[in-house]
Amino acid sequence: MENNRRPDNMERISDARLAQAFIDEQIGKIREQVGDKKVLLALSGGVDSSVVAALLIKAIGKNLVCVHVNHGLLRKGEPEQVVEVFRNQMNANLVYVDAVDRFLDKLAGVAEPEQKRKIIGAEFIRVFEEEARKQQGIEFLAQGTIYPDILESGPVKAHHNVGGLPDDLKFELVEPLKFLYKDEVRVVGKALGLPDNMVYRQPFPGPGLGVRCLGAITRDRLEAVRESDAILREEFAKNGLEGKVWQYFTVVPDFKSVGVKDGKRTFEYPVILRAVNTKDAMTATVEDVPFALLQHITDRITKEVKGVNRVLYDLTPKPTGTIEWE
Ligand code: XMP
Repeated sequence: MENNRRPDNMERISDARLAQAFIDEQIGKIREQVGDKKVLLALSGGVDSSVVAALLIKAIGKNLVCVHVNHGLLRKGEPEQVVEVFRNQMNANLVYVDAVDRFLDKLAGVAEPEQKRKIIGAEFIRVFEEEARKQQGIEFLAQGTIYPDILESGPVKAHHNVGGLPDDLKFELVEPLKFLYKDEVRVVGKALGLPDNMVYRQPFPGPGLGVRCLGAITRDRLEAVRESDAILREEFAKNGLEGKVWQYFTVVPDFKSVGVKDGKRTFEYPVILRAVNTKDAMTATVEDVPFALLQHITDRITKEVKGVNRVLYDLTPKPTGTIEWE
């Protein structure tokens, strides 16, 4: 029976020196566990999977096979950054799968939020399974499990209930972060040389922008979510709110409203801005974003994002609103 309890005497990893000691220890443990065998990892580019990847690259180099599935629901620049950091800078064995059309075709016309989640989760497993079958000699599966995932399936990862790989692909697990808290994972990621915007990233749901493009996903509204999200993130970073606000993003609903642009009537989508603070995602308060900044973001989004003529700020705490809109 595997031990899933953090050792009582384990020191909290709070600085670079402790992170380095953890990294050295884990490199030894990983090499001992996997020897010269190959390890597979689904690398989303989120904090946990990125830190696992960087650690395993240090320990076993090209014997780690990273699979990055681009499902079309990632934020602007994310798939490119995964390729840049892991393939170009860290020289990783990275399989990049462009599954954008495949996901969007499966999701076409599906409006019910839980149904959308199920399709995204199931399709992800299917794509990953296909890639796993193409690889020869894999004996291990690395996962970015962290201690809170073991302690309780909290609101964030509880949504990941999408089943797993089929029995013949059940590899032995490599979970080097399983006793770490999130803040420790970030300290380790920093010590491994990952870029700050990867290490200090805000939480991002598994189904990605798919739950922020409300109702049945269309390519035009999905692009509007992605572009408006990029503007919001850029402006929050410029104005010192990055790393201060817990989670912030944009939502595009599936209705239009009347507006006017260059003296002509428009009939286009609104963008909803959301920025919240919380400790555990069970309750949340709304960030008091300066009005002038909200006006500036509105100005940019309505000018720069195609098909958008209106911007709204969501003032609803949780409860009564959830953080996401779907
Ligand atoms: P809600 O909307 O339930 O969100 O207040 C709480 C936190 O969970 C994230 N979230 C998800 N994470 N898969 C995930 O991995 C999901 O399906 C999912 N839905 C919500 C949300 O972003 C917030 O941080």
